Amino acid sequence: MFKYSFQNDYSEGAHPRILEALTKTNLRQEVGYSEDEICNSARKKILAAIGNPDADVHFVSGGTQANLLVLSCFMKPWESVIAVESGHICVHETGAVEATGHKVNVVKGVDGKITPGEIQAVVDEHYFEHMVKPRAVYISQSTEIGTIYSAAELRAISALCKKLDLILYMDGARLGSALTSSRNDLDLKELCSLVDAFYIGGTKNGALIGEAIVINNPLLKPDFRYGIKQRGALLAKGRLLGIQFDELFTGTLYFDLARHANVMAERLTNGIRSLGYGFMTDSPTNQIFPIFPNAVIETLRKDYLFYDWAKMDEANTAVRLVTSWAITEQVVDEFLNDLKKIG
Ligand SMILES: Cc1ncc(COP(=O)(O)O)c(C=O)c1O
Repeated sequence: MFKYSFQNDYSEGAHPRILEALTKTNLRQEVGYSEDEICNSARKKILAAIGNPDADVHFVSGGTQANLLVLSCFMKPWESVIAVESGHICVHETGAVEATGHKVNVVKGVDGKITPGEIQAVVDEHYFEHMVKPRAVYISQSTEIGTIYSAAELRAISALCKKLDLILYMDGARLGSALTSSRNDLDLKELCSLVDAFYIGGTKNGALIGEAIVINNPLLKPDFRYGIKQRGALLAKGRLLGIQFDELFTGTLYFDLARHANVMAERLTNGIRSLGYGFMTDSPTNQIFPIFPNAVIETLRKDYLFYDWAKMDEANTAVRLVTSWAITEQVVDEFLNDLKKIG
């Protein structure tokens, strides 16, 4: 048996308040397919938090589902989406977006983030009907390597997308972690105003399951529920998702849980750094990527679960450690102690 899993931020079930809310509403009868009162209450709270009373909010069960739904519903068959090579849709979604018939135009990115220059270059390279037509830009906040877009970076990307008539879509699987990062300078309201659509990740931030897709751009709203249903994602018991977001957006729970994960990641980062190890990326969120000698990794692996992320050279590998809303200081300190003993 392992001591602790740092593999991801969804190894636990749900925050007790969410379980309580599920229990409390258990015998209440509600209409199906997310048209119930609790989903509507959750929608209202989300609209207030994002500062756009006119947005549409749809609840779905997972991140891959959100990404493929949004991108396939928003684009015509010959249109494509631009994304960085480390982006989740490029590497960890089993070609789900491509399987809907859309090419992904892959660019290198800097620190896991796409740049305006890269977007412009893809558009310039695709200029007639013998090629796909770039129509959307996929970004994630935080990124796959834990970095975040600054306000200036997102404003520049958003302005370029508007100029080029590209849909800007943000994958917010770890949006809570990005928004509560000590280095974040973008509030949810501004972030929302800069993108055509995004989703607020629940699965990785204390929900049992679920993501809330937000569509700002009125042109993209019609018929989205047809798309959800056709792809098998419109849950009869949609209430299950609504209840969780209703609770996450009651008071500051959503932000408190994400902030805790970040604070624990920072404690882990400082401890690892003080033992003399370096990092693959400078992450201010809840995924960190320390570089350890392979022998240290093999010993750590006897007690801890985590993913190897990138081979740095023959003798050293970067691993990914993810802290969750439920991790305790005690776990972090015990890991650091064990690492110290191994070193
Ligand atoms: C940025 C990002 N997007 C999407 C997903 C996919 O989520 P799911 O596993 O729920 O399909 C993940 C999961 O790790 C992710 O990190």
